Amino acid sequence: MTAPGVAQHYTTDDLLGRIDAGLRAVGADPDALSIDDLKPADEFHTGGIEATCALLDQLDIAPGAEVIDLGCGIGGPARHIAHRYGARVRGIDLTPAFIEIGRAFNDRLGLSDKVELSVGDITDLPYDDASADLMTMFHVGMNVPDKAAIFAEAARVLKPGGRFALFDVMRDENDEELVFPVPWASRAEISHVAAPGVYRRAAHAAGLKEVAERERRQFALDFFDRMFRKIAAEGPPPLGSHLMMGETAGEKIRNYVANVEARRIAPVEMIFERPKGR
Ligand SMILES: C[S@@+](CC[C@H](N)C(=O)[O-])C[C@H]1O[C@@H](n2cnc3c(N)ncnc32)[C@H](O)[C@@H]1O
Repeated sequence: MTAPGVAQHYTTDDLLGRIDAGLRAVGADPDALSIDDLKPADEFHTGGIEATCALLDQLDIAPGAEVIDLGCGIGGPARHIAHRYGARVRGIDLTPAFIEIGRAFNDRLGLSDKVELSVGDITDLPYDDASADLMTMFHVGMNVPDKAAIFAEAARVLKPGGRFALFDVMRDENDEELVFPVPWASRAEISHVAAPGVYRRAAHAAGLKEVAERERRQFALDFFDRMFRKIAAEGPPPLGSHLMMGETAGEKIRNYVANVEARRIAPVEMIFERPKGR
């Protein structure tokens, strides 16, 4: 079950037009794009493409691997996985506007045969049992109250020996209420940030075993420190994931960083495996 209002939170006015304007402002041609041109704007999580690579570097992704990206947004991580590893990627996301824009970029980049994006809920996946070698999830669980359902579906859809690699914002040691708005929630009702133990228990209950975990608090603080210094020196960049956060982007990012500094939350990577023979 998904909190109502999540897709509404992520739907902002004329996102595609604003990304295209940002591309032009940095000298890229929206009709003759490279995958790298789009990277500043299509990875909607802490650390952007740097964080995507840091998680994927811990995995062994073979050409032709069947990958599913849960909560794919406009498809940045999915396109990267297809392009970099030669994998076939299915992405699923609750926000129709993101899927529409993601498909437009797949077409422009000639990746539509390798990356298939669809609207749906990750707690009820439209995929066959044992049909994925790898599932990924970047900053999505914070919107999903039922973590057990995410892991039950991941365990069902993964092949035996397949892995589920995720990078989510989780509760840290300070249990004060978060300061809102943050990038994934304008208000507390659609924020479902949980402690790492909640993820681990849900994974184990679904029959997955944990193979790696890494807290990324300092990585996040360093990343935002660099971002704030650059903005102070050069002004806000024309192209960035802030475009997906609408008019209150600056406030959302500042609140997120303040929540991390106060140890209310921190981004964490986890990698699980569906044991062979199950
Ligand atoms: C912060 S964005 C991250 C997008 C993408 N993973 C990325 O890193 O670029 C969170 C995404 O999760 C999606 N989402 C939230 N709850 C979902 C659910 N229950 N099922 C599918 N997608 C969901 C939202 O629509 C949004 O696109």
